[in-house]
Amino acid sequence: MVLLPVFYLIVQLVLHSVIAASTSSSGRCIGPIEVKSNQDLDKLRSCQVMEGSIAIKNISSFGEIMNLSQLQHVHGDLVFENNEDLSQVVLAGLKQVDGKLAFQNNRNLERLDLTQLTGVQALDISVEPALTAIQFPSGLSQIESLTVTDTLVTKIEGLATSKIKDVHIANNKYLKDINMNHLQQVNGVMTIAANSPNLTMDLSSLSSIYQADFRGLAQLAGLNRVHQITGDLSFVANFFSSLSLPNITQIAGTLTVSNNLQLQNLSVPQLQLLGGALSLTNNTDLSNVSVPKLQQVDGTVDITGNFDKVDLPNLVDIRGGLNVQTSSTQFSCDDGVNKLQGGVTKGHEFTCKSNVSNPTSTIGHNSTTNATGYDYASSSSKISLSQTIILASNFILIYLALIK
Ligand SMILES: *[C@@H]1O[C@H](CO)[C@@H](O)[C@H](O)[C@H]1NC(C)=O
Ligand SMILES: *[C@@H]1O[C@H](CO)[C@@H](O)[C@H](O)[C@H]1NC(C)=O
Ligand SMILES: *[C@@H]1O[C@H](CO)[C@@H](O)[C@H](O)[C@H]1NC(C)=O
Ligand SMILES: *[C@@H]1O[C@H](CO)[C@@H](O)[C@H](O)[C@H]1NC(C)=O
Ligand SMILES: *[C@@H]1O[C@H](CO)[C@@H](O)[C@H](O)[C@H]1NC(C)=O
Ligand SMILES: *[C@@H]1O[C@H](CO)[C@@H](O)[C@H](O)[C@H]1NC(C)=O
Ligand SMILES: *[C@@H]1O[C@H](CO)[C@@H](O)[C@H](O)[C@H]1NC(C)=O
Ligand SMILES: *[C@@H]1O[C@H](CO)[C@@H](O)[C@H](O)[C@H]1NC(C)=O
Ligand SMILES: *[C@@H]1O[C@H](CO)[C@@H](O)[C@H](O)[C@H]1NC(C)=O
Ligand SMILES: *[C@@H]1O[C@H](CO)[C@@H](O)[C@H](O)[C@H]1NC(C)=O
Repeated sequence: MVLLPVFYLIVQLVLHSVIAASTSSSGRCIGPIEVKSNQDLDKLRSCQVMEGSIAIKNISSFGEIMNLSQLQHVHGDLVFENNEDLSQVVLAGLKQVDGKLAFQNNRNLERLDLTQLTGVQALDISVEPALTAIQFPSGLSQIESLTVTDTLVTKIEGLATSKIKDVHIANNKYLKDINMNHLQQVNGVMTIAANSPNLTMDLSSLSSIYQADFRGLAQLAGLNRVHQITGDLSFVANFFSSLSLPNITQIAGTLTVSNNLQLQNLSVPQLQLLGGALSLTNNTDLSNVSVPKLQQVDGTVDITGNFDKVDLPNLVDIRGGLNVQTSSTQFSCDDGVNKLQGGVTKGHEFTCKSNVSNPTSTIGHNSTTNATGYDYASSSSKISLSQTIILASNFILIYLALIK
């Protein structure tokens, strides 16, 4: 997160110095261009290809429609920010943005025409409280990072990419449908949170995902083909009644399934190894907790709720502590849990209780207990950390390539 702006700054500086703002010829323009007046906008209207970035910010006097339909390719960023009156942005000819395409805080923006867009490095649509639809009619087939937050969109259509790095879709109160059934690989972090409580998501082609956090979903199709998770996997405060992860054998981080109040069936039949914690808390309708093949948990085992049965028959190594608490009176610690004491559980804590009126978990879940909202503060630090690691490793690769 610290490196990213620096990187952009370097890119900007290079663009500034190498190609000083010059005049356009035959639809080819040299940027960067910051649109501040109608004259700037007229100049931009003749550009089909822009070498450099375009920024359209803080404009309140250009009317409601901005039609840049002639623009086809931006070799840089294209940013619309803080434009108060803008209600339509027409980019009907735009096929490719090599950098970031961003729409941020345009309070009256209702319609976005991206008819031909097929490629963009990063798409960021945030704080657009009038925007009701995001569509890519030609199929957005190349994108590294997608952010959609604080909009009124009801669906996101036309995501045709099979590979992406980061996805962050949050706080879109009317968003009921995210179809990403072309997506096979998520190489970074996927966060879905605090959208419509009726949100259904289709990830049925996904086979590889680095890290994911799903919150407030009514339905999640997919994850059937996923075998390994490199980071954490979380399901918090969702509304579905069953969750099945049939192929997952390893999660390098923590598996969290918390506050899914309608969850009745949880199935993780192949999971063997957890590099972090196992945190299954407050899924009050879940009566049977079973992870039949789990052998090793490097963190803590924390299972709380209203269950009658915990079945961990193959668990032989817990490096952290263990905390099992249920409000059920049917549950017996002798039925499988007590045998995890001693040699199996290496951590200091070992708690197993039934008939508890208020089961409490030991893992700090302040960021994950909110059933309706989404705690940006605590989750973003997690995301930024992994992004920093990814960025840092990219820098090392670039550095290695350069010194060769
Ligand atoms: C745009 O407006 C925001 C808030 O009104 C202000 O912080 C920012 O400095 C302005 N940017 C420019 C380029 O005028
Ligand atoms: C945008 O401008 C193009 C011509 O450059 C025109 O054909 C098109 O109808 C305009 N679209 C809108 C919505 O004004
Ligand atoms: C969600 O769906 C249910 C039934 O389909 C409906 O009653 C409810 O109003 C919907 N809620 C929202 C916020 O769309
Ligand atoms: C597990 O993944 C494979 C592909 O890797 C797929 O063919 C199979 O159907 C998946 N299993 C289940 C139960 O979905
Ligand atoms: C949960 O599993 C049980 C037994 O396998 C099944 O009868 C029930 O229909 C399942 N419930 C849901 C909501 O999938
Ligand atoms: C608990 O779930 C496991 C796997 O889903 C199943 O095999 C077992 O029969 C269930 N036990 C009870 C008591 O429902
Ligand atoms: C559960 O706890 C309550 C009060 O703490 C007690 O009255 C009751 O007998 C207990 N039930 C069982 C089955 O232990
Ligand atoms: C959780 O929040 C409560 C109250 O806001 C606070 O007292 C507690 O220390 C927090 N726990 C953790 C683990 O952050
Ligand atoms: C469990 O969920 C209920 C219902 O949302 C909530 O009131 C309670 O605070 C949750 N408990 C914990 C420990 O998160
Ligand atoms: C829960 O989420 C709501 C809605 O985003 C928010 O207003 C509230 O402050 C959150 N509560 C906590 C304890 O984080």
